[in-house]
Amino acid sequence: MRVCVIPGDGIGPEVLGAAVDVLRAVAPDVELAQAEAGWAAFQRHGVALPAATLDAARAADAVLFGAVASPSHNVPGYRSPIVALRRELDLYANIRPTAGPNVDLVIVRENTEGLYAGRERLEDGGDTAIAERVITRRASARIVRAAFDLARSRAAAGRAQPRVTIVHKANVLRVSDGLFRTVAFDVAGEYPDIAADELLVDVAAMRLAQRPELFDVIVTTNLFGDILSDVACIHGGGLGLASSANLGVGRALFEPVHGAAPDIAGKGVANPLAAIECVAMLLEWRHRAAAAARVRAAAAAALSAGPRTPDLGGSSTTAEVARAVIDRL
Ligand code: NAI
Ligand code: MG
Repeated sequence: MRVCVIPGDGIGPEVLGAAVDVLRAVAPDVELAQAEAGWAAFQRHGVALPAATLDAARAADAVLFGAVASPSHNVPGYRSPIVALRRELDLYANIRPTAGPNVDLVIVRENTEGLYAGRERLEDGGDTAIAERVITRRASARIVRAAFDLARSRAAAGRAQPRVTIVHKANVLRVSDGLFRTVAFDVAGEYPDIAADELLVDVAAMRLAQRPELFDVIVTTNLFGDILSDVACIHGGGLGLASSANLGVGRALFEPVHGAAPDIAGKGVANPLAAIECVAMLLEWRHRAAAAARVRAAAAAALSAGPRTPDLGGSSTTAEVARAVIDRL
């Protein structure tokens, strides 16, 4: 198996360094190829996602991605490389699990369109900004199928009362979310064994904050899924423990949910456990269930016994946590 490693900016290289050490320890046969993306790559090459990186990602069986620092103002020529990678590799399903005491839910977020389609423009001499929200029948149907398939596999693994909650704002976005909702309930009809219900996104946010135990699988459009998954991850120990998979047809990219964390970058104290869980997800996706289970068991043991990074109330470093995980493998 060949894995393309894209560390990125800020704490990306710090947490991916730890994750790669874990991957090497548990699967020494894996071939690793390193590639650049992000703000530092943009400074060096004038593009945030160099063609060589895209080629390396395409040539690999899977991608491990750290985090990139994207400026919040418009920088001519800069395009978010993670958004571009998802689109170029057609990684249409963003899978974001959250597990904690009494909570075991997964957000399945559409990853290729919606408000992140990147169709933005200025009109009116720069005084009006317009973003187009793209919702297609094809992308909606495949993301909702991914959610129901996941609910079915969780039921097969022992989850009682499997359910998919369809989250939208079709009462206001009648045309775009109206289409998403219609397609979602059409697909739901193909899964009589899985219950389906719906929530408006604002109510879903409140319910996720207050009663996360009510949820099993949530399926939603791109921006809503991005926001809701950060809410959900509070119940799983915060951003330092939240991981995600971006899945396409025969392709996958695994990344922590967090960003480049400029406030702690360079200090060596970023929590590497989200990135390490990405390694487990990658191994599982490549049908190496035993190796994935070893990583998860070692990470869980290290998490409960310590050492812990400052985000979890400890005072240990990234390297110390990584060492604790590797020692337990
Ligand atoms: P962020 O996730 O980088 O940081 C939010 C807060 O969580 C910070 O206080 C940070 O120190 C903390 N945090 C994040 N990961 C942590 C970890 N592993 N261990 C301990 N603490 C951790 O989000 P923020 O500050 O909104 O964005 C910073 C930069 O990252 C921006 O340039 C943004 O564009 C980028 N970003 C990139 C993402 C990606 O590459 N997929 C996702 C989110 C943001
Ligand atoms: Mg996000």
